Amino acid sequence: MCHTGKNVSSVCGGWRLSRRLQPLLLAAIGCVLFSGVPATIRAAGGEKLFAKNCTICHGNDGKAQSNYAKKIGVKDLAASKATDGEIEKQVAEGKTDAEGKVKMPPFKDRLTAEEIKSLIPVVKAFRK
Ligand code: HEC
Repeated sequence: MCHTGKNVSSVCGGWRLSRRLQPLLLAAIGCVLFSGVPATIRAAGGEKLFAKNCTICHGNDGKAQSNYAKKIGVKDLAASKATDGEIEKQVAEGKTDAEGKVKMPPFKDRLTAEEIKSLIPVVKAFRK
């Protein structure tokens, strides 16, 4: 294909160039896609707070499926019926079991009241 005359060879030259540029192009596309993800999370305050403070126990999907979560008895947020007020209270004050052992730590010293409120829709969004 590349040896049949001027016009074609210039096309082939272009093809060779784009072959060389291909990895660069892929890297650029990857970069755009990759940087798009954190940007979405950054836009939604509550989701970012959840990712930072809650997923370690509740998981990315809120279902608390990790071995650790099962061991300490984390509740599945997708199955939760907690009201807005209950969610707010639970996050602010945490939960202690009958023997006084902390099950979920309180967040009122780590998050502002506004931040705790912003987590309510995030917690409820796991329900279907
Ligand atoms: C150290 C692990 C841990 C972390 C971190 C944690 N939780 Fe929990 N969470 C638990 C456990 C354990 C329970 C179940 C407590 C119980 O028995 O009522 C729970 C229960 C809850 C409940 C009550 C669900 C229901 O239906 O009763 C909500 C709401 C909740 N967590 C939200 C959050 C949010 C929001 C965060 C982040 C700010 C968070 N949790 C961080 C361990 C954790």
